[in-house]
Amino acid sequence: MKLVLKALSFATVFLTAKASICNKFEDFLNETNDLLHLGCEDDASSLYFRTSNEVLLRVNDFPEIESFRSSLRYLEFREADVNQDIVDLICSFKNLQELVMQECDFDKNINWSCFENFKDLTHINIWDYGVNKMNQFPDAFYSLTSLKSLHIQAQNIPSLSDKIKNLKNLTTLLLDDNSIQEIPKGFCELKNLKKIDLTSNEIRELPDFINKLINLEIL
Ligand SMILES: *[C@@H]1O[C@H](CO)[C@@H](O)[C@H](O)[C@H]1NC(C)=O
Ligand SMILES: *[C@@H]1O[C@H](CO)[C@@H](O)[C@H](O)[C@H]1NC(C)=O
Ligand SMILES: *[C@@H]1O[C@H](CO)[C@@H](O)[C@H](O)[C@H]1NC(C)=O
Repeated sequence: MKLVLKALSFATVFLTAKASICNKFEDFLNETNDLLHLGCEDDASSLYFRTSNEVLLRVNDFPEIESFRSSLRYLEFREADVNQDIVDLICSFKNLQELVMQECDFDKNINWSCFENFKDLTHINIWDYGVNKMNQFPDAFYSLTSLKSLHIQAQNIPSLSDKIKNLKNLTTLLLDDNSIQEIPKGFCELKNLKKIDLTSNEIRELPDFINKLINLEIL
């Protein structure tokens, strides 16, 4: 039986999680046909596996994630302390398509540059806030030309670069509840944008070119 890990979710995880990725995983795999959801909680000493028939199993220790490096498509962190090691871990899943970070704390000096290597990342959803919010839009995100949906909500992002125009495949851009003051001109090159949310920012006026985005449904 060949098993493909589709989703991995970490809740309230601290970095110790990374070091001890477990080996009891194989026993479990024998009995599971379709692993839909794998997560870990609290002190990261336990893992939760949610299978297709919604049975929640729990094993001590972590599975050997190594073999899933290339198959993982979905990764979720909840209430995690996001630091450089976590970001490096994310980048190690090279074929990731969807990244969700909910209610996370972000270290101040994270270098996100490894994100430039993602080729298939179509969805980033960072929402709800922890104590330490993101205080910059990561420059590497401007290289994610595969992105279709970008949601960074309730952080402390002060500005966007004109490089936003690189994200030509974006259909959804939700940046509500940040501290953005200006909409860069690059926006008018985002021809596929259908949905945009910039509410609860510090934007004083909407530039004319926004009207040129004919596909827009919501503003
Ligand atoms: C899983 O399969 C391996 C190899 O077939 C076997 O040695 C092991 O006992 C199995 N584990 C369980 C829990 O059935
Ligand atoms: C971020 O990391 C990359 C690759 O490791 C490195 O080349 C770059 O200089 C770093 N940027 C900063 C601001 O430290
Ligand atoms: C952008 O979207 C098109 C149509 O879905 C797709 O063919 C193309 O590969 C995408 N570009 C990138 C860089 O992923």
